[in-house]
Amino acid sequence: MGSVVDAANKEATESAHINKKVTVVFVLGGPGSGKGTQCANIVKHFGYTHLSAGDLLRAEQNSGSENGAMIKNVIKEGRIVPSEVTVKLLQRAMEQSANDKFLIDGFPRNQENRAAQENRAAFESVIGIEPEFVLFFDCSEEEMQKRILNRNQGREDDNMETIRKRFRTYIESSLPVIEYYNSKGKVRKIDATKPVEEVFEAVKDVFAPLNDKVAY
Ligand code: ADP
Ligand code: C5P
Ligand code: MG
Repeated sequence: MGSVVDAANKEATESAHINKKVTVVFVLGGPGSGKGTQCANIVKHFGYTHLSAGDLLRAEQNSGSENGAMIKNVIKEGRIVPSEVTVKLLQRAMEQSANDKFLIDGFPRNQENRAAQENRAAFESVIGIEPEFVLFFDCSEEEMQKRILNRNQGREDDNMETIRKRFRTYIESSLPVIEYYNSKGKVRKIDATKPVEEVFEAVKDVFAPLNDKVAY
């Protein structure tokens, strides 16, 4: 305690975290519920930086990373990539950003993601930060399926076989995470079955008080 080595270790640990105060909002909801679409609106309107765990994983897969084949296979099977990989990608993106407000879309997606998110020591994670709230896009499976099949972004997981697996993962693994945050009073639930503009009106109502708090 108090030795030069301890001081050096402490410094190294602190520098692995973000030094500034950051605001984090988790954006959760089933596949195709409109997370990415609404995040783009929130970015324009409220100045957040949007980090989609799925987008970061796809970029990592395409970068020739040693984890590329594993990520590709997990995404095709509609399962969840081990947190160690995803947390590192999110951490790097946050560190590289000059912003201090982040929308983290599609994470934490299962209990293992959530445990990793809360365990700063294990991953030296900058996202061991308590979210301001969890924005939850609630949408019927029928509507989500229709949207995914019309998405046309050339995604390898937007086919009927993988969609079924993704829905199962959502119900079995992601909904319990949303339930957990709900029990902590953190969830702001939005009816995401409505048209994009109407959904964004509801989203604005959730963000407006937060903006007021920052302004005064
Ligand atoms: P997610 O990121 O949750 O998987 P996206 O934002 O990619 O969902 O939306 C999936 C598809 O549905 C996209 O093609 C998008 O344009 C469309 N979409 C998003 N929100 C709505 C909405 N409220 N009504 C109709 N279509 C929507
Ligand atoms: O959010 P998005 O639909 O882009 O995610 C696509 C896929 O990426 C998921 O079905 C899952 O296989 C993978 N993913 C993951 N861990 C996350 C987010 C996404 O493994 N936290
Ligand atoms: Mg998305």
